[in-house]
Amino acid sequence: MPTSQSTVQLINHLDRDYLRHALEHDVRTGLTATPKWLPPKWFYDEAGSDLFSRITRLPEYYPTRRELAILRARAGELAAASGADTLVELGSGTSEKTVLLLDALTAAGTLRAYTPVDVDAVTLAAASERLTGRYPGLAVQAVCADFERHLGLLPRTGRRMVAFLGGTIGNLDPDAREVFLKEVRDGLRPGDTFLLGADLVKDRGRLVAAYDDAAGVTAAFNRNVLRVLNRQLAAAFDPDAFEHVALYDERNDWIEMRLRASRAMRVPIDALGLVVDFAEGEEMRTEISAKFRPDGLRGELAAAGFTVRHWHTDPAGDFALLLAEA
Ligand SMILES: C[S@@+](CC[C@H](N)C(=O)[O-])C[C@H]1O[C@@H](n2cnc3c(N)ncnc32)[C@H](O)[C@@H]1O
Repeated sequence: MPTSQSTVQLINHLDRDYLRHALEHDVRTGLTATPKWLPPKWFYDEAGSDLFSRITRLPEYYPTRRELAILRARAGELAAASGADTLVELGSGTSEKTVLLLDALTAAGTLRAYTPVDVDAVTLAAASERLTGRYPGLAVQAVCADFERHLGLLPRTGRRMVAFLGGTIGNLDPDAREVFLKEVRDGLRPGDTFLLGADLVKDRGRLVAAYDDAAGVTAAFNRNVLRVLNRQLAAAFDPDAFEHVALYDERNDWIEMRLRASRAMRVPIDALGLVVDFAEGEEMRTEISAKFRPDGLRGELAAAGFTVRHWHTDPAGDFALLLAEA
């Protein structure tokens, strides 16, 4: 158990120029495509992260509660099996569930360092500060980075458990997942482990409700991407003119979130010198959230070079948490 003063170090791979360039590239590519689309990472400015936190507490949004239940039951076993002294967490957000892992690694007597990794610098810094108060002696090295681009730049010291929780893996399409899983695998050294939380295929009604809550929080989260574009790219979206759409695509086993134009619109995006036309009723895709079948997920992990050592689900079988080795 660490006893000395804890420290926070923040490394930023997403400086203003990088972010701007990446956002411009994604928006130009996605909004000039047919059908239009945007990658989900741009939801997460400070307001987007706050909205996501609210989503995790909604009655319809079962994944967080299910993953928490598995962690409560299994964190000790997983921590002991990993032998990790360093927890690296991809897409860490507010790091709320992480506390269960940090407690378990502390109880196992191995914990030395925590490296949260997220695109939202504000939420990352706040979470890191909060955790240093709770874990004296913990070295927190927060990394503001894109886990689809910067895995090779993450610190590789210590015996690491690389955690990817919340079902965020489902936001990657199958091709992107294949690349991502191989990169995670290539970054592991002997003794390192990969802890993955994944949402499982289930009743369509519950799936859709989890992304289309009665209080409209997910709708506000979805529209937030338009506010990000307005602020960052001098765009002129009227977020209220777009309806939130959530549907389940059974062929692909994924939820799609879309924004549907409620009227025809011409939207200037001044920073790009671009004007984007929307027809009335036109939909643009803002997120996929893939749901997994156990055999399919095991197959994807095996193809990327992982061996699954521990596989746990909640009692209802809604969500899976697995620990794999390279
Ligand atoms: C669905 S939330 C999950 C948050 C938390 N891990 C949980 O389980 O509740 C996804 C998180 O990943 C972050 N994120 C999304 N895309 C990212 C990317 N490409 N690189 C780094 N972080 C990303 C978001 O900012 C957000 O904090």
